[in-house]
Amino acid sequence: MRILMVCLGNICRSPIAEGVLQHKADLKGLGWVVESAGTESYHVGEPPHRLSQKICLEHGIDISHQRARKFTGADVDRYDLIYAMAGDVLHEIHRTSASAGSRGHIGLFLDELNPGLNESVPDPYYGGEDGYHHVFDLVNRTCDAIISRYAQQGSK
Ligand code: 4NP
Repeated sequence: MRILMVCLGNICRSPIAEGVLQHKADLKGLGWVVESAGTESYHVGEPPHRLSQKICLEHGIDISHQRARKFTGADVDRYDLIYAMAGDVLHEIHRTSASAGSRGHIGLFLDELNPGLNESVPDPYYGGEDGYHHVFDLVNRTCDAIISRYAQQGSK
């Protein structure tokens, strides 16, 4: 399974989601590849936000090696699952990839936790550290849901 997490800047939310799901999948020996990207290019090449790094490290997950990259329409043909962290991001994914073939599922990340509610992971970029803890908690629970849904299908 190849999985892509997408947010706006690829420095706050999707790097946490990449780190947490990759960590959980590795612990279970699933052989999954988890990556992330952003629909905006402001932070391309940068490591994750220092608070995203800090909160992940507090949970034993080192995401310091990650570097932001921009989502491209061709990505929809390279991943089995593409998760948008927010509604505006999902809209941009569909807009950017309108002419590309889609290989797998594209949807809202939080739909795996609370199906049908169309919820977005709140953007912590303009707030304080509390926001990053909240994002981590949402991401952690949603990644558990993703693992229980897809792990039975075996590693690909
Ligand atoms: P992210 O957060 O999409 O979770 O990485 C943001 C990071 C940067 C900006 C917006 C959101 N920005 O406008 O620079």
